[in-house]
Amino acid sequence: MNMHAKHTADAETVEESLAIQEAQSVHDSDTATAVAMQNTLLTPRFYTTDFDEMDAIDVSPVREDWDKLIAQMKSDPNKGHFKKNEDWDDIDWDGMEPELKKEFIDFLISSCTSEFSGCVLYKEMKRRGNNPDICELFGYMSRDEARHAGFINDALREAGIAVNLGFLTRAKKYTYFKPKFIYYATYLSEKIGYARYITIYRHLENHPDKRFHPIFKWFREWCNDEFSHGEAFALLMKSDPKLTSGINVWWIKFFLTAVYSTMWVRDHQRPAFHKALDVDISWYGQEVFRKTSEMSQQIFPITLDIDHPRWMRGLNAMERANVKIAEGKDQGGLMGKLKVWGNSARAGLAFVSLMSIPSIKHQVPESTWLEPAY
Ligand SMILES: [Fe+2]
Ligand SMILES: [Fe+2]
Repeated sequence: MNMHAKHTADAETVEESLAIQEAQSVHDSDTATAVAMQNTLLTPRFYTTDFDEMDAIDVSPVREDWDKLIAQMKSDPNKGHFKKNEDWDDIDWDGMEPELKKEFIDFLISSCTSEFSGCVLYKEMKRRGNNPDICELFGYMSRDEARHAGFINDALREAGIAVNLGFLTRAKKYTYFKPKFIYYATYLSEKIGYARYITIYRHLENHPDKRFHPIFKWFREWCNDEFSHGEAFALLMKSDPKLTSGINVWWIKFFLTAVYSTMWVRDHQRPAFHKALDVDISWYGQEVFRKTSEMSQQIFPITLDIDHPRWMRGLNAMERANVKIAEGKDQGGLMGKLKVWGNSARAGLAFVSLMSIPSIKHQVPESTWLEPAY
């Protein structure tokens, strides 16, 4: 695309942002798109839901906080932020240590896919809805996610690869989740996204020599977007007390355990990436869980006991089982299959063990309102 064309960072709507990215996609590589197409338990998925049920939400019980949050999103503090400027350093991709390069590219592709997965879901809600509150919120959130995905794609393009987002939208498999499960999963992924980005950002503030790629400099504003997306889902849940009481507390525990353990397993697959940042993966995991748990008390009546002796043991067992599952898949044949089955059972048992740790109960505050504090 030519030099005068508009950049995704300046796009004011999701449609505009996607059109820019569609125009760029002629350069996009098949391998990156193939990686993004993978549907395993660990790779980011695309979701669809009952949009009519979501459209019927009445936010009047939380009107005051709602209007405040929407006004903040409307003011669009990060417009124009997500593009390269003089702070962007040149990266010697060819000189990068091969293991690090592989893991970092994998990190960028999977981050881009999950940003884009949010974008597609939010955009669809905006398109199908009639409820002005819901449509406005999902319009702003899809705008933000499209910019985030576009920016990661800019970084990938320098390495000679990029994810073809238009193709992904059409070809990737969509998983159906009931609206309440979308709330739990999306709320958590927004808040954990904030905790992940801010923890890396703060760490690199103290250790600037470990910042091996300029994209980390953009993480603070980035995570503030994710923070306010999380706030929106907290308000949606607050508008209907049933969502966070009774049997649903059990579902909340299930999603907390699933989201935390998936992150743990996925991060442990990238030792070279974390070594380059000088981040201990298990420390990082626990730190992110701690921040996320603290924030989630704004709406969830329970948090997981991440200091329980069986917690780390269970996570490590899941991680080991996942390594073996991957080995079995590579190996193929009957022996490979047996390895996959045996270790899937092991991972399942580890998950059950994590779920059986008693959770910590909390009194949930009147208002969900939080400010980014880390
Ligand atoms: Fe995002
Ligand atoms: Fe987000």
